[in-house]
Amino acid sequence: MREQFEIRDHDGAGRIGRLSVPRAGVTVETPALLPVINPNVLTIDPERLRSEFGVDALITNSYIIHSTDRVRERALEEGLHDLLGFDGAIMTDSGSFQLAEYGDIDVTTTEILEFQHAIGSDIATPVDVPTPPDVDRERAAADLETTETALADAAAVDTGEMLVNAPVQGSTYPDLRERAGRHAAGTDLDVFPVGAVVPLMNGYRYADVVDVVLGAKRGLDPDCPVHLFGAGHPMMLALAVACGCDLFDSAAYALMARDGRYLTVSGTEHLEDLTYLPCSCPVCADHTPASLRDAGDAERERLLAEHNLHVTLEELRRVKEAVRSGSLLELVERRARGHPAMWDGYRALLDHREQLEATDPVSKGTFFSLSAESARRPEVARYHDRLDRLSLPESLLLTVTKPPSEHEYDAVWRVKPPFGPVPPALAETYPLTAEAPSRPNTELCRAAADGVARLAREHPTTEVTFAHDDWEATVLDRLPASVALENLATIGR
Ligand code: GUN
Ligand code: ZN
Repeated sequence: MREQFEIRDHDGAGRIGRLSVPRAGVTVETPALLPVINPNVLTIDPERLRSEFGVDALITNSYIIHSTDRVRERALEEGLHDLLGFDGAIMTDSGSFQLAEYGDIDVTTTEILEFQHAIGSDIATPVDVPTPPDVDRERAAADLETTETALADAAAVDTGEMLVNAPVQGSTYPDLRERAGRHAAGTDLDVFPVGAVVPLMNGYRYADVVDVVLGAKRGLDPDCPVHLFGAGHPMMLALAVACGCDLFDSAAYALMARDGRYLTVSGTEHLEDLTYLPCSCPVCADHTPASLRDAGDAERERLLAEHNLHVTLEELRRVKEAVRSGSLLELVERRARGHPAMWDGYRALLDHREQLEATDPVSKGTFFSLSAESARRPEVARYHDRLDRLSLPESLLLTVTKPPSEHEYDAVWRVKPPFGPVPPALAETYPLTAEAPSRPNTELCRAAADGVARLAREHPTTEVTFAHDDWEATVLDRLPASVALENLATIGR
């Protein structure tokens, strides 16, 4: 049992939780975004992050502090919270990112953890090895052993109330990620970042991000708080939460602002290209693209960073509301439409529908059938898996249109894409209250036909007749020969 993390709500693998950070005396509601603060360049005053933006936790890099004499002395004397002027929770990174970029750093896990403790960090990080994507398996496995040693070294340091991260590595090998997750969950460390995904995100490889995160999640315990290191673009938050990530950190809001980039929930725009500002945050309410372009460099950078952070935090609230109301996958699908690479990520997510199903509530808001992909959602798979529980009479008519008032069958049920056969008693229950477009969609019909086929096979003694309205042969071919067919279009009903 991890006492610091309490899960309040689920939708698929996504969840709303509360992470208590004892050293800060703060409880952070998750999913949460930790803005990255460079101690040497404060684009937005950290005090304002808490009072104006409602940020309860941020992340900074203890390695940068450690290797800058003046800042190191101040951090040791005043503590990190006074140094930054922030009284929420502060997570510190260890220099692993510098290790990945430059190949070498001059601190050990023990030294940097003791330093993080000395400067008053609330959540510290050991020196893990962020193995890049696509390296050969031997290297990924060898690096993982180094990371596992770092976790053991971290566990041996007396860290008091400070929480400690247990990063999960393993490059692009989902099975190594799973092994790493299982090992990390077996330590008594507290928070579980999935590492080295930045190169994947920079390459728009969202399907790989999904496979890597879900690999790690299979090894981790369900009650482990999971951080996605280096992720915080508003476009991918819904997808990452749907994979079961609870914490994010974003340097994007500040880095992108530096070169004039303006974040939106469907991608990144250049300020130079904008004629209008499609946002109503305080910055966008007060400015036009021209007035932002005309501002001085430092002022423009700060304003863009503020907009970028507003739009990111707004999206996170929208994601939380979607988890609470049970419409997270609808939101993921909407975001997936914003970019083909996101669509790949959504499809990869649905490849893991059984993993999502394990924590998906049996009842939530209205299911919207929006695309062929909706037919692969966990709710559909679960409904099909439960068709064997239904009791059937000797003869049954399944029909895609309104049942006839007079007939010679023992029972008549509607067929509703993408679920398939719907017994009248269940018609008003989730997910069968689903809303679907009235124009037929082959993929949704195919999933419904699979439901009919499954029902017929599970109940071989029932005579099943299926009345469709001119469904395609490729769809009807999915039905076993025992199902009698009637085409309502040719009968003229
Ligand atoms: N920041 C972004 N990715 C990583 C990672 O894999 N490890 C650590 N420690 N920090 C990161
Ligand atoms: Zn804005």
